[in-house]
Amino acid sequence: MALTRIHHIGIAVHDADQTAEVWRDTFGLETALDTELESQGVRGVIFPLDNCEIELLQPTRPDTGISRYLETNGEGFHHICFESTDVASDLIAARDTGMQMIDEEPRVGLTGMIGFIHPRSNHGVLIEYAQPPDDAPQHAGPTSGPGPHALHHMTVAVNEVAPVTEAWTERYGLVGREPFRAEALGLEGQFLDIGPTAIELVRPLPGSGGPLPRKLDTSGEGMFMLALTVRDAEASVAHLRGEGWTVTDANAGAFISPKHTYGARLRLSEA
Ligand code: CO
Repeated sequence: MALTRIHHIGIAVHDADQTAEVWRDTFGLETALDTELESQGVRGVIFPLDNCEIELLQPTRPDTGISRYLETNGEGFHHICFESTDVASDLIAARDTGMQMIDEEPRVGLTGMIGFIHPRSNHGVLIEYAQPPDDAPQHAGPTSGPGPHALHHMTVAVNEVAPVTEAWTERYGLVGREPFRAEALGLEGQFLDIGPTAIELVRPLPGSGGPLPRKLDTSGEGMFMLALTVRDAEASVAHLRGEGWTVTDANAGAFISPKHTYGARLRLSEA
């Protein structure tokens, strides 16, 4: 196993120029890459954070996986990419655990040599492995301002926490913390660490309402919310409200409706 960290979070969008206005203009991130992969019919726009990247994916023709994804699911979180030091052998290892593979061998992607594992084998989460070239530039997020500068964790909605923890610690080398139960938020879950960031598995407590049970009811298990770190949560909330955004302030952070971000539910908090 040679997975070291979450390399990026992929987000499927209809119009990357439109969505870039959120990440670049509202949040102050810089575009590190804006390129088209002709062979895949996809345009990728990458915004670096300190410990991870945001990858916007826009289809450039209708007969592609990403355009079919948008037709079925609409805009929003598309995949989690783990960085690998040896993508070819990690893909073989994944196949050998019985996972349904999209790629059994690495191919050229936006971030080096990559391969995908089917969401059917991972509770609705499309997993990418990427091995960036040795001379890949090191980027960082904004050094000041109200925008996010780092990934805190990616939240995944699941029906049962324990079996996913068991599978993902085994398959991906994630390290499980103690399970938790948050009555006030109406959910329970567990953090799984990888490198400087984490994946949070959550499921609603019986009888609770809100977007989490709604997501499970309508689209099933899968990526639910991206938690990002800001330097000053109060200043960030004031900035976004000044832009006319609806921001729900709660003790666990500031929650941003996906209607402002073209499908990406966000949580902002101080580290
Ligand atoms: Co990707």
